[in-house]
Amino acid sequence: MRHLIDILDLTIEEIDQLIETAEDIMANPAKYAHVCDGKKLATLFFEPSTRTRLSFEAAMMELGGNVLGFSEASSSSASKGESVCDTVQVVGCYADIIAMRHPKEGAPVAAASVCPVPIINAGDGGHNHPTQTLTDLLTIRKEKGRLNQLVIGLCGDLQFGRTVHSLINAMSRYKSIRFVLISPNELKVPEYIKENMHRDKVSYMEVERLEDVIGTLDILYMTRVQRERFFNEADYVRLKDSYILDTEKMKMARKDLCVMHPLPRVNEISRAVDSDPRAAYFRQAMYGKYIREALIMKLLGVEA
Ligand code: CP
Repeated sequence: MRHLIDILDLTIEEIDQLIETAEDIMANPAKYAHVCDGKKLATLFFEPSTRTRLSFEAAMMELGGNVLGFSEASSSSASKGESVCDTVQVVGCYADIIAMRHPKEGAPVAAASVCPVPIINAGDGGHNHPTQTLTDLLTIRKEKGRLNQLVIGLCGDLQFGRTVHSLINAMSRYKSIRFVLISPNELKVPEYIKENMHRDKVSYMEVERLEDVIGTLDILYMTRVQRERFFNEADYVRLKDSYILDTEKMKMARKDLCVMHPLPRVNEISRAVDSDPRAAYFRQAMYGKYIREALIMKLLGVEA
């Protein structure tokens, strides 16, 4: 039995295979419409979500399976003090696979140690978000045609942004990747992520101004400054509008730039950018459903 807790739980070959399956599902949905007949996915979301939960549920439905679960901790017995380990042991009696989001870093590792069915980390605090990373990798492959030889700008909250941490770890395994880390001083990438990049001999630079580097990028990955990760509201207010990608800044970018964002966005991308063909973030959300279909199939061991 396999779980997916961290993107590094998957080899590059396995990721390539998932991307291939997702592309085949996109091209031939009918071929996959019954591969999960009789199977159930439980979505246990102790933290809010739109894309991750609903794309997992849509993915399972499109594979012929069923879904059950909860979308907030307050409607589960966690509100009565039940531990996450007890919750997954019980839900494992009702479902064949679990996707779980939890505000505490490491909660999915603890859950996986007792869970009788495969568990997928759908985001744990400011730590990891491996299925967003799979979504991002499929998006990069679809939009840029390759996963190597890329200059990737990551902009915004790089300290608490779990999607950023997972993406850096994943892309560091591909050839000729350079990261441009664009953040205010207070929201820089954590030291352990930098240590990983040093270990993997991955080139990166840290800057504060998006304008100075936007013209050098193949991919610009924007992120939200996350109010829910701050202890101090004044710090959030001071930093929340550090970056706003607008049509003026897009004029400085390459014609083939790919703008990504895990969403939700608040102010960091102006709505006027949405109609620019380089804005890939809504297509990115769509790709998320297909790669989650491929992942569910892999962890359940089913084939078309
Ligand atoms: N990208 C992402 O994780 O979005 P949700 O929080 O809406 O699931």
